[in-house]
Amino acid sequence: MSDYEPVLLANVGKANSHALSVYMAGGGYRTLRRVLQEKTPDEVMTMVRASGLRGRGGAGFPTGMKWSFLPKGHPGPIYMCVNADESEPGTFSNRVLMECDPHQVLEGAILSCYATRAATAYIYLRHEYPLALGRMQAAIGECYAAGFLGRKILRHDFSLDAYIHRGAAAYVCGEETGLIESLEGKRAWPRIKPPFPAVEGLFRKPTVVNNVETLACVTHILDRGVDWFRSIGTVPVPYDPRDPGSLGPKLYCVSGHVNRPGCYEGSLGLPCREVIERFGGGVWKGRRAKAVIPGGLSTGLLSADELDTLLDFNGPVRAGCLGLGTAGVVVLDETYSMIDFLHNCCRFFAHESCGQCTPCREGTHWALSMVERIKAGRGRLKDLDLLLEIADSIGILPGTTICGLADGAAWPIKNAIRKFRGEFEDHIRRTNPQGYSVAEPVPAMTASSDWWSVVS
Ligand SMILES: Cc1cc2nc3c(=O)[nH]c(=O)nc-3n(C[C@H](O)[C@H](O)[C@H](O)COP(=O)(O)O)c2cc1C
Ligand code: SF4
Repeated sequence: MSDYEPVLLANVGKANSHALSVYMAGGGYRTLRRVLQEKTPDEVMTMVRASGLRGRGGAGFPTGMKWSFLPKGHPGPIYMCVNADESEPGTFSNRVLMECDPHQVLEGAILSCYATRAATAYIYLRHEYPLALGRMQAAIGECYAAGFLGRKILRHDFSLDAYIHRGAAAYVCGEETGLIESLEGKRAWPRIKPPFPAVEGLFRKPTVVNNVETLACVTHILDRGVDWFRSIGTVPVPYDPRDPGSLGPKLYCVSGHVNRPGCYEGSLGLPCREVIERFGGGVWKGRRAKAVIPGGLSTGLLSADELDTLLDFNGPVRAGCLGLGTAGVVVLDETYSMIDFLHNCCRFFAHESCGQCTPCREGTHWALSMVERIKAGRGRLKDLDLLLEIADSIGILPGTTICGLADGAAWPIKNAIRKFRGEFEDHIRRTNPQGYSVAEPVPAMTASSDWWSVVS
């Protein structure tokens, strides 16, 4: 690892790193120029597929395979949606890329549009990122002026227009079909799949949705080659022919109770402990970690004895988490209450559920109600099993919801209670020794809760 050379963050820290002149001084857009001269779209797609690049937006789906689902010989239009909504709690790597190196994002997006034959790219940008919005807009302007966007790019027979669409400020807007609905001017309600966006997406046309970091990787694959990309990260496990491995560079967002919160680059598959120690400077105030969110809130929790878990696409799953997610690593120190953790999680997901699916709409609110009650000292031991029952029955994985928000709501509950049950039981025994139950409405659902009165 010591000889790892950052590529995604190579420009970050340079003066005016967001300007076209600085990007080009570092070799920017030379890959676009070369690829347009030397490679066909199919060749680019083949390279991306061979690299093993997997989506950085959360699900880790192989990018080249996703592109290959686009209908062959389609007369168009084909759309590219750049998912810059970045709403997963604990995740800010897209923000760093767009604020500090917007041209890296654009070059990757342009090359990806060339490969997929998309003639329009929409950058769906998180509403709460005004600096990224300004920098991306300015970068798009510079690209049009320099001939990297617009008609006949670099005099090649390839044209592309790029637009920014400011997000509607909800977590579910980042779900790819919610994003598409929102782009179409509607409420961001995720669609039932199939059809998948590659077949029927934006305006019912074939559409690719990719994360900002995924697209940024594409330039480096085409610049440095497939072998370079495959030499970084965790190789496929030999006993599973369907495992594509976890290859390439990765941005790790480190936050919570650490000494040096920030966005860092390393190879995919670093041990969680190394990410916390080497990048985050260790747990703050000389304390120890009690738990770590490995990849954004929806991935769940690693306990202190699971910190040697490799942060690749398989590691967190083996440790009982939902997945690697976004590699947004959030550290909770030994003094932090798991009841408070779960309360915050449940508030978030109950608030963000779009309400289309009954198990998600009701389940996230029931879970919040119960955790509110436990926190308020009126919990019962059997509430813990009820919470687990809710968590085990909502989501795409149990097959009861349209989108993965409900899985993301379920995993923190499952992990918190299964891995820290003793703390919950102690709290309940201490605060409600008689174990009585109440029938009146719980605070979360009434105007007496600060949070509820704010949002209602
Ligand atoms: C509730 C929810 C929120 C999501 N939010 C984001 C997001 O903010 N950014 C993102 O890139 N992907 C997000 N995703 C994943 C997208 O649906 C999609 O898988 C991703 O954009 C595909 O890009 P990739 O293949 O490059 O990772 C979210 C998924 C769900 C279920
Ligand atoms: S799972 Fe939840 S957020 Fe997703 S579509 Fe259903 S109700 Fe909406």
